[in-house]
Amino acid sequence: MSLSIDYKVEEPVVKEYTNGELTVIWKPQQCIHSGICLRGLPKVFNLKQRPWINMTAASSEDIVALVRDCPSKALSIKGVRFKEEDRSDQQVTLIPGGPIIVKGGATVHERKSTEVFHETVSFCRCKRSKNFPYCDGTHAQPKED
Ligand code: FES
Repeated sequence: MSLSIDYKVEEPVVKEYTNGELTVIWKPQQCIHSGICLRGLPKVFNLKQRPWINMTAASSEDIVALVRDCPSKALSIKGVRFKEEDRSDQQVTLIPGGPIIVKGGATVHERKSTEVFHETVSFCRCKRSKNFPYCDGTHAQPKED
């Protein structure tokens, strides 16, 4: 007797948006829904428009500056690697209804002997993340009863 299990491994979604000068890459699985993009450039990043990123609604310089601040790095610029910030410039930001974002470097002691360094890391405050203590964006979804 043989057993056959048919399963499909889903490839992560990667989308690209361009204005001819630069291309923004979006990896939705990586997004923690901090809303920094929506608040920072609402004419470019708007969930009510399709596509949700309108690359012609701001200058390339403004788009690059905003993408640089994406805490999860779900947004990036094709072919650009941002220089990491100076560690002495560490910032802690509380996202209303969302995570605590630490930028500028943080070493996390995940297990007794495991240390993981993150240049930017988002810690869950809602305690619903499936990747606790890290935020996975669950805070942005309605609570199940
Ligand atoms: S704060 Fe984002 S999943 Fe909890």
